[in-house]
Amino acid sequence: MQLIFEQVRVGGDRNFGYLLGDRDAGLGVLVDPSYAPALLTDRAHEQQMRIAYIINTHSHPDHTNGNAEAHALTGAPVAAHGLAPAAPDVRLADGQTLEVGALRLHLLHVPGHCADHVVIHEPDYGILLTGDLLFVGKVGGTSTDADARTEFQSLRRLLARVSDDTTIWPGHDYGVRPSSTMGWEHRTNPFLRCETEEAFLARKTFSTAASVGRWRRISSESSLWILCSRSGKESSPSVRMTPHATGVTAFPRTSTMPYPVQSDPGSIPSIRREGSVIDRGL
Ligand SMILES: [Fe+2]
Repeated sequence: MQLIFEQVRVGGDRNFGYLLGDRDAGLGVLVDPSYAPALLTDRAHEQQMRIAYIINTHSHPDHTNGNAEAHALTGAPVAAHGLAPAAPDVRLADGQTLEVGALRLHLLHVPGHCADHVVIHEPDYGILLTGDLLFVGKVGGTSTDADARTEFQSLRRLLARVSDDTTIWPGHDYGVRPSSTMGWEHRTNPFLRCETEEAFLARKTFSTAASVGRWRRISSESSLWILCSRSGKESSPSVRMTPHATGVTAFPRTSTMPYPVQSDPGSIPSIRREGSVIDRGL
């Protein structure tokens, strides 16, 4: 099987949508097309792929708001966890495998950020779509301690389940680069370094209090500190990253700086160190 995998900037709050498929079978899926379904379906069309499913990682509107248009464009059913409030066409369950041509997508139920959250694991190529559970350097926001404890257990389960060299692909571009590996996050993400629920809760409380004001102040400049050299270029023959067509995240493509080139030096590095979590119900 030749894998099609594209990470697409779809707008919103630096949302990522994804296109995965089996090129040989001409079949694929869309994941969280949200603000730009036509952009994703155009990519599928250009590669002569029929879309078999529109998958949502979770039911927050910034991930589901493109479902109707994506369905109109493709005729594909919407697949989401059975707890999703909008009654998906295909109800996914923990441990289920979706077969798309020769592509095997394993679904894991990972509540915490959202009760119906799933992550999508493609084990042959080592790809994990983490939605809003796990970002590069951060984790998903939670509104209660109980949800935070649930999220901690979901993350620990994920760490036990997938190998360190698995690449993670989040639902938002909140980190220093648009993707990472599970091993790297385990070593460097301050939330994944927490060994206990109590440490995890303490980290969340501290990081939220320390960072929310600073984050908002610099958000409009976020494009300055994305690892630009990793975007818009093929990182391997089977992995390709597609920039958003309308330039919502139009960062300077010639830059190779992994850290801010023009910013308040007192704010961004602190966010890096603390791994800020944005508790905004994303
Ligand atoms: Fe979310």
